[in-house]
Amino acid sequence: APAAATTSATFTFDELAWGNDETHHVAAGYDAEILLRWGDPITADAPEFDVMKQSAAAQLKQFGYNNDYVGFVPLDAKGARGLLCVNHEYTSEEVMFPEAGDLDADALADLLRARVDIEMAAHGGTVVEIAKDAGGKWRVDRDGAMNRRITPLDTAMTLDGPAAGHTRLQTRDDPSGTRVIGTLNNCAGGMTPWDTWLMAEENFHGYYWSDRAEDAPLDRTTQREARSWKRYGLPGGWYDWGKYHDRFNVDKEPRAPNKFGWIVEVDPKDPTSTPVKHTALGRFSHEGAETTVSSSGKLVVYMGDDARFEYLYKYVSDDAVNEDSAANATLLSAGTLYVAQFDADGSIAWLPLVHGTGPLTVENGFDDQGDVLIDTRLAADLLGATPMDRPEDAQPRGDGTAYVMLTNNSRRTETDPANPRADNDFGHIIEIKETGGDHAATSAMWSILVKCGNPSVADIGAEWHPDTSESGWFGSPDNCAFDAQGRLWVATDQGSKWDKTGKSDGLYAVETEGAARGTSKLFFRCPVGGEMCGPTFTPDGETLFLAVQHPGTDGTKNLRGFERASTFADPATRWPDFDPAMPPRPSIVVITKQSGGKIAL
Ligand code: FEO
Ligand code: CA
Ligand code: CA
Ligand code: CA
Repeated sequence: APAAATTSATFTFDELAWGNDETHHVAAGYDAEILLRWGDPITADAPEFDVMKQSAAAQLKQFGYNNDYVGFVPLDAKGARGLLCVNHEYTSEEVMFPEAGDLDADALADLLRARVDIEMAAHGGTVVEIAKDAGGKWRVDRDGAMNRRITPLDTAMTLDGPAAGHTRLQTRDDPSGTRVIGTLNNCAGGMTPWDTWLMAEENFHGYYWSDRAEDAPLDRTTQREARSWKRYGLPGGWYDWGKYHDRFNVDKEPRAPNKFGWIVEVDPKDPTSTPVKHTALGRFSHEGAETTVSSSGKLVVYMGDDARFEYLYKYVSDDAVNEDSAANATLLSAGTLYVAQFDADGSIAWLPLVHGTGPLTVENGFDDQGDVLIDTRLAADLLGATPMDRPEDAQPRGDGTAYVMLTNNSRRTETDPANPRADNDFGHIIEIKETGGDHAATSAMWSILVKCGNPSVADIGAEWHPDTSESGWFGSPDNCAFDAQGRLWVATDQGSKWDKTGKSDGLYAVETEGAARGTSKLFFRCPVGGEMCGPTFTPDGETLFLAVQHPGTDGTKNLRGFERASTFADPATRWPDFDPAMPPRPSIVVITKQSGGKIAL
């Protein structure tokens, strides 16, 4: 490879060597410490974690499972105190519960019923105060007044925006169509300029249950929903929740799924606040919701719909962001949702999803804007949006630039310029330059920053800067973040594809500017079977928070009918405790430079 001196490389750390073993690794000269683990108490009155005696009541006061998005809200000017806002995407029953032992049928039924509520209590989110101790180490403050859990078991929320109150959001539990209990499958997210937290609801379809025979007649309500269900993969039947909770059983509540698949706004500084689901931002498998302020002052939110052949969206508020936080409460309630059409000439047309515009009409099954938003995917289909290779995190930088992680798509056969590889096992990253540097623009230019995978295997068709080492290339970009210098960091989630690279998931520093553009360097890697989530830097650039999700599971998921009396007897790792009596635990890692100062500078 050419000498680094010939490039404009900006990341100054010594690259970590790639690998895949039972623990985590960070580049030399950095500390990577465990800050929070699944089960850790997050309130003063929370019981200590006992993996053998789990209960929903305890889990509601303890850190949840499968940490994904991490947001940070500074609570002082020095940056020594802050709030962590963490999503808990899903549960991995195969490694979270101990063996059931020899139980009679009734006792087993009771156990499985109780485990459903534990799973529900382990989903959602956590707000927890953290502070630096005298030695400069970050510690959780269990006494923090803002600490709270948010779950699909017991957190009341409201729905607002154009679809709120819509007939299709009305259920037996809520004839008003404006209320819902809980949020789930909260994958990535974002923070707003006014320090609220956006939790994205991703694979909500998986949580709905039905016992209806395939050929059973449908009642009128279900008939109305059937077109939508087909497009959204409902009911998925991944979890047993619907066996015990009618609101997850579509035979009993056919409209219940319409209350999920939204972006949820939480005010982490007010522990009594009611989270709001903003229907104006559309309903789909929301990966994340990263925000910026356009040159015209509007709030702009970039959002991927993470499924094969789904679309990239952005939302632009009607009004401008205000200095006064309270005045911003409506910015996510009134605005325009756009979907991206990537054209072969390198341009993007942002197509508005507005009822009565183009094909979004009554004749085509959309009675009003509520229908357009509830069935965002169907509306975007009619507009001619470009089906992408699984759009995950989409990160705006504030200068009119955004990066979109296209994680992979092994089912692609027909290619197009923005999705140029068939059988795309490794994904790619697209750079967007909005017209005039304005994030609110309705047109943009796009280009491919990197095509992922091993560059030394010609058939893969990977494209990196040639300075990228054997350790630096990666597959399946998923989450990403900018550091205080506006430099791009990319986290990977290979799932069951990890054996195609042999590498563990990790965090990579990717150059986007100058002669080094397209160079990637490995900074951190996960324990075996763990996914890299949640990269977030403190505003001073001196601390990096990472989330290690589902360590030891290789991304395998629970399926309907899975016997929940399972075992954690033989996981691939027992990270981070390495205690033979403890399964692996999803955990937050905090990274600082041993010599102090900004990371990678
Ligand atoms: Fe939950 Fe798209 O990863
Ligand atoms: Ca993700
Ligand atoms: Ca991000
Ligand atoms: Ca992923």
